[in-house]
Amino acid sequence: MIEGKGISKEFRSGRGRVQALADVSFSIETGKAVAVVGKSGSGKTTLLNCVGGLERPERGKVSCFGVDILSLSGKALCLFQRRNAGFVFQYGNLLSYLTVFENVAFPLTLKGIRGKGKEKRVQELLERIGLPDVGAALPHELSGGELQRVSVARAIAHSPKMLLADEPTSSLDSTTGWNLIELMFDMGKEQGCTMVVSTHDPEIIDLADASIHLRDGKITKEDR
Ligand SMILES: Nc1ncnc2c1ncn2[C@@H]1O[C@H](COP(=O)(O)OP(=O)(O)OP(=O)(O)O)[C@@H](O)[C@H]1O
Ligand SMILES: [Mg+2]
Repeated sequence: MIEGKGISKEFRSGRGRVQALADVSFSIETGKAVAVVGKSGSGKTTLLNCVGGLERPERGKVSCFGVDILSLSGKALCLFQRRNAGFVFQYGNLLSYLTVFENVAFPLTLKGIRGKGKEKRVQELLERIGLPDVGAALPHELSGGELQRVSVARAIAHSPKMLLADEPTSSLDSTTGWNLIELMFDMGKEQGCTMVVSTHDPEIIDLADASIHLRDGKITKEDR
C-alpha cells in the first residue's frame, strides 16, 4: 500500500508562493494501477515526486509499503528508491551517452546484478518491449515511442515495488501512446508493481484501477 496523509507542498519562486499540494490524502492498494489526472499546474508531478521521495513536502506523511519515506535520511532514501522505485518521465530519461542495453542494465548494476544474469534480464526486457535488436543503439537513434518503451523497460528492470510514470505518453501520438500504456500496465501487472501514472489522457483513466483527480493542489475526486 502507498499512502499519503495531509501532504502540503509550497514552492516559492519569482512568481511568489504557489501551493502545489494542499492537504492531500490518498491510498493506493498494492498491485493496483492508479491514474493521477488534472489540468496543467494542478500538482500531478509534485504528487508523484512526493511519493517517489524526489520532492519533500512541508507537511504530511508518505508511506510506501510500510516505510515512512520522509523519515529516511538522504542515503537511506536513496537506497529505498534504488530498490523499490522505477521512474518514467515525460520525455524519457535515458542517459544519452549509454547504449540502450546499458541504460536498461543500469538499475540492475546498482542492485549488484552482474554478468550473465544481467545480460539475460536485459535481453528479455528488450524482447518484451518488441525491440530485441536495439541493445547496441544510442538513445538518439530511436524514435520517441521506442525511447519511451526503453524507459519503461529500464524503470521496471530491477522489479521495483512501485512504478511512477509522469505523463509518459505526452510526447507521443495517440496510437503510440496507447500502445505504450498498455505495455507498461501489462508489464507492471506481471511483476506485481503498484503503478502511479499522471496523465491528461482520459483513456488511461479507463485502463487504470482507480484515479485521483487534482485541481489547484487539492483532490477533487477519487474514483475506484
Ligand atoms: N520547482 C518549482 N518552483 C516553483 N513552482 C513550481 C515548481 N514546481 C512546480 N511549481 C508550481 O506548482 C504547481 C504544480 O506544479 P506541477 O508541476 O505539480 O503541476 P502538473 O499538474 O504536473 O502540471 P503539468 O500537467 O503542466 O505537468 C504549478 O503552479 C507549478 O508552477
Ligand atoms: Mg507535470
